Amino acid sequence: MSDVNVTIRDNGPYLVQGAITIKDQAGNEIEATGPVVAFCRCGQSAGKPFCDGAHAKCGFDGS
Ligand code: FES
Repeated sequence: MSDVNVTIRDNGPYLVQGAITIKDQAGNEIEATGPVVAFCRCGQSAGKPFCDGAHAKCGFDGS
């Protein structure tokens, strides 16, 4: 059983809870703060790969 959990929010981000390492395309680690990391899945975040709440403004439909 994994110690990492991913939750898909309705019309929102992927919430990842647990110890993970995030790297950009060049292999550089990206620091994330907090016990839960929200990854954008709407494509509209100004702070990708993280969710910045833009999904609510753009009317993202995750279904
Ligand atoms: S899912 Fe939240 S900004 Fe994209």
